[in-house]
Amino acid sequence: MKTIGVGIIGSGKIALANHLPGLALCPEARVVALCDANPKTLEEASRTTGVSRTYSDYHQLLRDENVNAVIIATPNYLHAPIAISACEAGKHVLCEKPIAMNLAEARQMLAAAEKAGVRHMTAFTYRFGPAIRYMAHQVHDGAIGKPYHFRANRFQDWDLRDLGWRQIKKLAATGELGDMLSHRIDYAHLMVGQIKRLVAHLKKFVEMRGQSRSELDDWVSMICDFENDATGVLESTKLATGRGEGPQSMDSCEVNGDAGTLVYYSDKPFEVLVGKKGGKTLETVKLPREFLTWPGSPRDPFASDPVIGFRYDQDVEFIRAIVENRPCRPSFAEGVQAQAVMDAALLSESEHRWVELSEM
Ligand SMILES: NC(=O)c1ccc[n+]([C@@H]2O[C@H](COP(=O)([O-])OP(=O)(O)OC[C@H]3O[C@@H](n4cnc5c(N)ncnc54)[C@H](O)[C@@H]3O)[C@@H](O)[C@H]2O)c1
Repeated sequence: MKTIGVGIIGSGKIALANHLPGLALCPEARVVALCDANPKTLEEASRTTGVSRTYSDYHQLLRDENVNAVIIATPNYLHAPIAISACEAGKHVLCEKPIAMNLAEARQMLAAAEKAGVRHMTAFTYRFGPAIRYMAHQVHDGAIGKPYHFRANRFQDWDLRDLGWRQIKKLAATGELGDMLSHRIDYAHLMVGQIKRLVAHLKKFVEMRGQSRSELDDWVSMICDFENDATGVLESTKLATGRGEGPQSMDSCEVNGDAGTLVYYSDKPFEVLVGKKGGKTLETVKLPREFLTWPGSPRDPFASDPVIGFRYDQDVEFIRAIVENRPCRPSFAEGVQAQAVMDAALLSESEHRWVELSEM
């Protein structure tokens, strides 16, 4: 079988932490080129990976005939221009989240991918989380009956530290909304269905991060109605003092239905808490083996830290979709749906009102 040559554009933190180990699980894929605008980062990535073909300009990488697919892991403002150029060059595209700076850009990306007939994927990594996938399966299977409520909490302590491009509006568009809540919006859609209307509030508390001004939200919250009439409450903050950060800090999700409840905590990705009608306490349920890895993934779920390892399966899904010539999930379409909710949240904040998704 022909090897799929992968080019990585943006060879910073997440490219090395998630995508390289993910691609290493795919015998059909080989990283053939790296691109980064920062020469030091590029050199380090080349040394770490052993990939010697490097580019400082993504246009050059997109002209490389050895590259069949690209992973875009740059700051957010570059996602749309790079993805659209990549589609036009006939490359399959896995793009980091949030998919774009705004809904118009996200829609252009989806249209470009569909026109080019390439595989397209948004890196909504948590869909690959065993407990998230199990909860979605249980909700769809009717295990908790008709959903009443969806709830997601992402509480970290990032204190006052410098966030680089993440605190600059023209590079990131939003702060906590795009960085953390976008994942939760996506898996709310996965579990409960499309959000129909919402009211949101975003707030910046920290004026200076490091030596530079912070321009973006540290905290975001929204209340929403879903198409199926369930309600949602989502909250995410960088300023939950003392809660720590990363996968071990507070990251939970709960769905209540008329027949039961499902609860997930990210530090225990292989189990969920289950409540039954008439029950007094929640019971811990270990996930069935088939939920510990993504279908088709050769990954041993016990070989790496379980709070990290599932992230590698998104690259497996991307490569399997190319090999099998079928759509990826989550695709740019899911990226567009989440972006519509994000844009609606910004509109709600600026006009202090409920926003219907049909307005977007
Ligand atoms: N899916 C997830 O769970 C997850 C987690 C973390 C980050 N992300 C997303 O991944 C993206 C990157 O985040 P990160 O934490 O790796 O950031 P990072 O700053 O560590 O890496 C981004 C890299 O892009 C490079 N870059 C900037 N301009 C470029 C250009 N014109 N051409 C090529 N490279 C360029 C930078 O030099 C940097 O090395 C963001 O969109 C972020 O939201 C997703």
